[in-house]
Amino acid sequence: MEGTPKQPSNLSLLLQSILEEARQLPEAGKVADYIPALAAVDADYAGIAVATIDGQVHWAGDAEQCFSIQSVSKIFGLVQAMNRLGDSMWERVHMEPSGQSFNSIVQLEWEHGIPRNPFINAGAIVVSDMLVSHYSASKAAALSFIRRLAMTEQIWINEEVFQSEKEHGNRNAALAYLMKGFGNIVAEVPDVLDHYFYQCSVEMSCKQLALSLVFLANRGVHPLTEETICSRRDAHRVNAILSTSGMYDQSGEFAFTVGLPAKSGVGGGIAAVVPNYGVIAAWSPKLNSFGNSCRGMHMITRLAAQLGLSVY
Ligand code: DON
Repeated sequence: MEGTPKQPSNLSLLLQSILEEARQLPEAGKVADYIPALAAVDADYAGIAVATIDGQVHWAGDAEQCFSIQSVSKIFGLVQAMNRLGDSMWERVHMEPSGQSFNSIVQLEWEHGIPRNPFINAGAIVVSDMLVSHYSASKAAALSFIRRLAMTEQIWINEEVFQSEKEHGNRNAALAYLMKGFGNIVAEVPDVLDHYFYQCSVEMSCKQLALSLVFLANRGVHPLTEETICSRRDAHRVNAILSTSGMYDQSGEFAFTVGLPAKSGVGGGIAAVVPNYGVIAAWSPKLNSFGNSCRGMHMITRLAAQLGLSVY
């Protein structure tokens, strides 16, 4: 890291000014519309929160408004699977950037049904299969894990998004059946997809999201509960894969310009981990052509630059 991150005297004021700047940006991007329930979200929402490892949460804008976390949920599933299966899981999903869009199918055929990493859809579907196969009630286990991390029971899934994901899930079904054909899906495909869509449909606010992931900035230990969520080695591994693969096909550019492990979702949320400091969660629904939130990227980029947060 470039020295110790600067601690502004009032982080909330800095967040407020960055948020206002992002709100002034010329209209860019497009709200995800492959699901009617996502397309209906007010495009003007914008929020940012920072949870630090000393237990503080600073925020600005719509940081208490819940949104569909979508692919940011892939982090929670991965940590659950790492805890449950140990190193054997890496025989079924690898840790390389894909260089393809998140729902691409071509690479899977060449690579015999082994997804490049757990943050593309195919990888998260294999992780979902692991969870379905290792928990008697995998969806309840996923939700309770997220609630424990966010230290609140007030986290729910959006039923409308969940049902629409299933109705529009043909491509994910194709990925799952192809992997099943290669022997890399154990459970029944509909059950695996049910879990995958369920975790995509979880709704959280920026404040909840930042707090729930702050263990990744603190070597696997939740700073507020002092609970070990994952090993230090696994926190390192999650951050490493986030750095190379968390921002879809824009991960290289994000590392180049921002320099933080991060994950985005098509609901417009982005969570960025600042090791030994905290987690930034930003949300605004309009997405760029890669599927990353335009204002979310702007806010995290500005904050990282102002505080010198890059890990490189
Ligand atoms: O798999 C899907 O179609 C959505 N639930 C996408 C989630 C997302 O944010 C994109 N993911 N990598």
